[in-house]
Amino acid sequence: MLWVKAFHIVAVIAWMAGLLYLPRLFVYHCDAETGSTQSETFKTMERRLYRAIMGPAMMTAWVLGLVLVYQGSYWGETWMIAKFSLVASLTALHVVLGWHRAAFERDENRHSARYFRILNEVPTLLMIAIVILAVIKPF
Ligand code: HEM
Repeated sequence: MLWVKAFHIVAVIAWMAGLLYLPRLFVYHCDAETGSTQSETFKTMERRLYRAIMGPAMMTAWVLGLVLVYQGSYWGETWMIAKFSLVASLTALHVVLGWHRAAFERDENRHSARYFRILNEVPTLLMIAIVILAVIKPF
C-alpha cells in the first residue's frame, strides 16, 4: 500500500505542477499579440501541458487515491469527506482551465492577465488545505 501511496503523491505533484503553471502561462499569453509566433508557441505549450501531463496525472491521482480510500476503509470519515470536496473543487478548476485553454487556442480569450493571476492563487490555497487534511486528519 505504501507503493500506491508513493505513486499517488507523485501523480498529485505532477497534477499540481500543471494546475499552478497553466494559469501562469495564460498570464503571459494575454500579453502576446494574436497570430504572433509567441502566441502560437504558448498554444503548443498549453495544449501539451494540459493533455499530456495534467490529464493523465489527474486520472492517476484519482484512481490511486480511491484505491487508498478502499484499502484504508476511509469512507465516511470527516477528514476524507472534507478532502473529497476540496479535491472536487480542484477537479472543477482543472475543467475550467481546459475551457480557457480551448478559448486561447481559438484566439477567443476575453479574460485579463489580472483575472488569471487571481485564478493562479486558487490551487495553492486548495493544495495547502488538502495536504493538511491528508496528513494531520484533524477530524
Ligand atoms: C484525487 C482524489 C484523491 C483521493 C481519493 C485521495 C485519497 C487519499 C487517501 C485515502 C490517502 C491515504 C491516507 C492515509 O493512509 O493516511 C491519501 C494520501 C495522501 N494524499 Fe490524497 N487523495 C486525492 C487527491 C489528493 C490531492 C489532490 C492531494 C494534494 C494536493 C493529496 C495529498 C495526499 C497526501 C500528501 C497523502 C499522504 C498522507 C500521509 O500518508 O500522511 N491527495 N490520499
